[in-house]
Amino acid sequence: MRITLGVTGGVAAYKAAELVRRLQQDAFTVQVVMTRGAREFITPLTFAALSGQKVITDLFAESSGEANLESAIEHIAVAQRTDLLLVAPATADILAKFARGIADDFLTTLYLASTAPVVVAPAMNVNMWNHAATQENVEMLRARGVKIVDPDEGYLACGVTGAGRLAGQEAIVAAVHEALRAVRDLAGEKVLVTAGPTRENVDPVRYLTNRSSGKMGYAVAEAAARRGAHVILVSGPTSLEAPVGVERVDVRSAEEMHRAVVEKVAECSIAIFAAAVADYRPADTNAQKIKRNNEAMSISLEPTPDILASVARNKGERLIVGFAAETDHVAENARKKLAAKNADLMVANDVTAEGAGFDHDTNIVTLFARDGRDLALPRMSKSEVAQHILDEVVRLRSTSRTAHRSAV
Ligand code: CTP
Repeated sequence: MRITLGVTGGVAAYKAAELVRRLQQDAFTVQVVMTRGAREFITPLTFAALSGQKVITDLFAESSGEANLESAIEHIAVAQRTDLLLVAPATADILAKFARGIADDFLTTLYLASTAPVVVAPAMNVNMWNHAATQENVEMLRARGVKIVDPDEGYLACGVTGAGRLAGQEAIVAAVHEALRAVRDLAGEKVLVTAGPTRENVDPVRYLTNRSSGKMGYAVAEAAARRGAHVILVSGPTSLEAPVGVERVDVRSAEEMHRAVVEKVAECSIAIFAAAVADYRPADTNAQKIKRNNEAMSISLEPTPDILASVARNKGERLIVGFAAETDHVAENARKKLAAKNADLMVANDVTAEGAGFDHDTNIVTLFARDGRDLALPRMSKSEVAQHILDEVVRLRSTSRTAHRSAV
């Protein structure tokens, strides 16, 4: 496997030299590309000696003083033979250029020309890292599928302590392996994902709903599409944009979501129920706005259909993933729901935990699989949680196929 290692201009550039060695230990061939800034910190000769390859420094060969065709198209050739592009350390500048598609040197041009997975390990001053501009660029890249290895907290070269230190070598190497693994293992699968809240009308201007933002379901839809699946996203009302390449069906109430799911699920091999469906709706909807008077009032509620359970009852070969939002006895309740609803995987979270649940960008979940495996994950972004869910889906799928084959 060939990795192109982009080194950009920061004090941590010297750590990239050790990284070359570490990647070689895992049998990667490493082609180093240095930006002009990186060369202020470390010489190309160091990397040439370590990698055993000529280091690429510029779009047009500087030494000859004039552009030649070979160097002008080299970024395309390197792009074609790269299995993964890793940038470590990545400056705020390179994050901004990648996010915006600016291609003014070899590395930025290579980024646009390559279709390989991209892993980026930022390192910079804490304020630069926390700046809204940098954070927006990082989010944009993440949404596009770039794997970000978050910087560590610690003492920084600029003399302050905070987040900004290049992540440890092992974290970077683990991210490289993960990015290579996750490529297109859902190609050929049709995946249905439900997401967001539902709204249950009380009268023409009022409704019952919940705090779901839809972020978790949208992250799953996006990750599944990126891994090659055809994704149908049945979404309650959210302010989110449909991920690229995903077919979105907009619904409002639990009833509408149920109808859309029943219509679409027959053609799907995997169904993931991330929506926070209202469990109850007003038994009668008033056609007119309810008028105020000074007496107490009550609304009578009736249960909505349990969409997951109704699909899972006759699931056949279809793999079913449910979510369990809990406030107590998380493991016990999640395992109970897994069995009661006939699901294959339950994603359980304690919605009262810090950094988890509604409207957060992060989540803390445990995955409970029907084969008895539990996987407790630390706090991580919802996109990362989505990847772990899909890893489990792929694992369960391959074990059930193996079991099916040996039974035939
Ligand atoms: N779900 C569904 N249809 C419903 C209610 C829930 O499809 N009417 C799905 C959710 O999308 C989720 C799972 O069922 O994947 C579990 O939802 P949750 O609200 O945690 O479970 P409930 O069965 O409603 O149990 P409770 O609210 O009592 O904890």
